[in-house]
Amino acid sequence: MGGMRVAVVGGGANCEHEVSLASAASAVRALAGIHETVPVTIGPDGGWTGVDGERLTFAEAVDLLSGCEVVLPVVHGPGGEDGSLAALCELAGVTYVGSGVRAGALAMDKWATKLVAEAVGLRTAPGTLVTAGRTGRCRFDRPVVVKPVAAGSSHGVSLVRRPEDLDRALTEAFVLDDRVLVEHVVSGREVDVAVLARPDGTRLVSPALEIVADGLFDHAMKYGGHADFRLPAVLDAADAVALRTAAVRVFDALGCDGLARVDFFLTDDGPVLNEVNTMPGLTAHSQAPLMMAAAGLSYPELLDTLVRDAAWRGPRRPGAVGTGRVVL
Ligand SMILES: Nc1ncnc2c1ncn2[C@@H]1O[C@H](COP(=O)(O)OP(=O)(O)O)[C@@H](O)[C@H]1O
Ligand SMILES: [Mg+2]
Repeated sequence: MGGMRVAVVGGGANCEHEVSLASAASAVRALAGIHETVPVTIGPDGGWTGVDGERLTFAEAVDLLSGCEVVLPVVHGPGGEDGSLAALCELAGVTYVGSGVRAGALAMDKWATKLVAEAVGLRTAPGTLVTAGRTGRCRFDRPVVVKPVAAGSSHGVSLVRRPEDLDRALTEAFVLDDRVLVEHVVSGREVDVAVLARPDGTRLVSPALEIVADGLFDHAMKYGGHADFRLPAVLDAADAVALRTAAVRVFDALGCDGLARVDFFLTDDGPVLNEVNTMPGLTAHSQAPLMMAAAGLSYPELLDTLVRDAAWRGPRRPGAVGTGRVVL
C-alpha cells in the first residue's frame, strides 16, 4: 500500500484545544513524505476549518473527511477522544484510527473506567462520585484529589489538604463537568505504559515511563517543559510484569484500539490505575510516542503504523461486531 490521503483532525472545543493542535501539527509533520496529509481543525467554538484555514460548514467538513482514505482524529478530551469523532467517522462510513465509540466514551469517563478496571481485578483510588447540586453531601475527612469525571491535561484537578479548600476545588471541577470525582490521595510513583493494538490481535506494550513530579502532575508541569521523565522507569521485575499485565487487561476490558496510554500510580502494593487515554498526547516529545520509540517504533513509524492498520481494517460500522474481515 503506497501513500494515502490522511485527514489529521486537531483542536477541539474543549480545554485541551491547544494541546490537540500541537499533537496534530506534530503528526502532520511526521506523516509528510509518507502520506498526503489534510489538516482539519475544530475551533474552540466547535467550528471546522480546512487546509488553508478556510471556514467549513459541518457538511463540508464531513465531505472533506469522506474524501480521505483514513482519518487520524487527534482531538484530546470531550468532543473528540470521548468517541465523538469515532462516531462521526462511523456514521459517515470513513476509516479512522484508534479506539471506537464505546472505548472512547468509557475511557474518557474516569468513573466508568474505575468500575471496569476494578471488575477485571485492577486497583484504583477509592473515590466518590459527586453530581452537580449534590455537593452538600461531600464532607472532608481526609486529603483528597478532586477532578472532573471527563476532562484532561490536569484541568480542574486539585489536591485538597484542608477542609476549607474543598468547596473551591469542587467549584473548579464543576466548571468542566457536571460529574466530579473525589478520590483518596494515592501515594506512589507515577508510571505510564503505552499499548498499541495491531490488527492481528497482538498488543505492543512499551517499557514503562516514570514521571518524576513533586506533588500533582499539573498543567504547568505537563506543558511548561519541567516534567522529568525516566524512560525506561527503573522497576523491579514483579512491578514491570504487573504494570504490563494491568495495562493490557484494562485496554482490552474497555475495548480500546490503536494506541492508548495507561497511567498508574506504582505503590508499595503494586500498580493502582489512574486513567486510560485513548488519544494520548501525540507530539514527538509526548509520553506515548516516547514510550513507543523505546519499544522500537520511531515516531513516524508509529503514526504510519496507526494509519496503515486503520486502512487495512477499513471502515467500522455502528453496532458492527468485529471488523467483518479475516484476521491477519
Ligand atoms: N487519586 C490521586 N492521588 C494522587 N494524585 C492524583 C490522583 N488523581 C490524580 N492525581 C494527580 O493529578 C494528575 C492529573 O489527574 P488525572 O486524573 O490524570 O487527570 P487528567 O485527565 O487531567 O490527566 C495526575 O497525573 C496525578 O499527578
Ligand atoms: Mg492524567
